[in-house]
Formats: sequence, C-alpha cells, structure tokens
Amino acid sequence: MNSGIDLKATAQTKARYNRIARFYDLIETASERRFKLWREKLWSHARGDILEVGVGTGKNFPCHRRGANVTGIELADRMLDRARERARQLGTPIDLREGDVQALEFPDNYFDTAAATFVFCSVPDPIRGLRALNRVVKPDGRILLLEHVRIDRPIIGRLMDLLNPLIVRVWGANINRRTVENVKRAGLEIESIEHLGPMQMVKLIVARPGGETGHS
Ligand SMILES: C[S@@+](CC[C@H](N)C(=O)[O-])C[C@H]1O[C@@H](n2cnc3c(N)ncnc32)[C@H](O)[C@@H]1O
Repeated sequence: MNSGIDLKATAQTKARYNRIARFYDLIETASERRFKLWREKLWSHARGDILEVGVGTGKNFPCHRRGANVTGIELADRMLDRARERARQLGTPIDLREGDVQALEFPDNYFDTAAATFVFCSVPDPIRGLRALNRVVKPDGRILLLEHVRIDRPIIGRLMDLLNPLIVRVWGANINRRTVENVKRAGLEIESIEHLGPMQMVKLIVARPGGETGHS
C-alpha cells in the first residue's frame, strides 16, 4: 500500500513538524486572527462523517460542529500530542490517529467530507495525498481545502521559488505550491474557489471526488 511513497521526504517533513511543535501556536498567533475566520468558512461546508487531515495542534477543533463525527490524522507525533491535549481541554470528541494522507488506511467511499487547512503545502507528494482523499470520500461528498499557494506574478512568484528551499527546511511548508492545479491533476472536480488574503494567496477550495483517479 505504501509503495511509491518518498519515505525519506516524509520522514523529513515529520521531523520538521516535530521540531517546531512546541512553538507552532506561538509563531502563528498574529496570522491566526485572520485564519480563524477562514477556518470557520471552510468548516461551514462540512457535513456527515468527516476526516480532518493534518490536524496539527488542533486549531480547527473549535470549528467542528457540536456532535460531528470527526476522525483526525496527523503525521508528526509531537503535533498530535498537542492536538490531543487541545481536544481534551475543549471536550472535542475526535478520533485522533497518527497517519499519512499519502497512505490512508480507510476503505473507499468512507467519509462524507475530508478537510485540510494549510496541509498540502507540506505533504511531500500532494497529488498522491489528494488522490487518497478522492478515494475515501463518497461520490456525493466534498473535499475542503484551505491552502496558501504560489503567487502567480513574475517577480514575487520567482522570489517565492528562490526562498522556498530555505522555508521548507526551517518550517516544513512549501510556499510555492500550485495547489489548485494539483487538485485538478489528482482528478478532483473543483466546485468553487474563494480567493483570500493579500494578493489572493490563500484559496478556499470546495471539490468533489472525480471519477478518473478516485472511484473505480
Ligand atoms: C502547517 S501545519 C497545519 C496544521 C493545521 N492543519 C492548522 O491548520 O494549523 C501542516 C500539518 O500537516 C501535517 N502533515 C504534513 N504532511 C502530512 C502527511 N503526509 N499526512 C498527514 N499530515 C501531514 C504536518 O505534520 C503539520 O502538522
């Protein structure tokens, strides 16, 4: 099941997030004021049985609808420890598991919604991860993504490309991912995109599973 996964890159991503887990919430404090509104927007689309991918320290937990049946996966165990503590403090009834979106162990057509916020900038093989969501979400379900992407302007885009190797090394996230294109390449069908933030750098994507690479 795991064949073809770049294990070295995945281990590096895990190690990077484990390294910053203690400081993650602190560093994100300023941006989180804006992110909170966007998180709420994303979660307003969530229905039924939900998979949250890359829960991090659990920043989305306050947005989960009361009584929602949510399963959360996270690659980095130290981020997951923090998420568990947040779930305990908030009384969020979430089934939290260590896991990799590139190798989901859930059956086909299992969830009504899959949601991820600021995750596919870090997943080593985002198309593989998005295809996995395509597989586990029911044909009438939705895949909800909130992601920062490469700004499509000549100078700033190039600058993002130049800075990217350094940022990945320190922070774990790529700043120049073309996630809208990746969603399409993974075979998902985009229903809507909301462009958010400075230079429309953040995208709220609502997608449906597509036939090509998801459901057989
Ligand atoms: C920038 S953080 C975002 C965390 C959280 N979703 C949020 O909005 O604050 C990215 C998270 O994705 C996780 N992640 C990266 N690659 C992953 C993978 N292949 N499978 C599951 N989680 C992954 C990282 O460990 C990290 O916790």
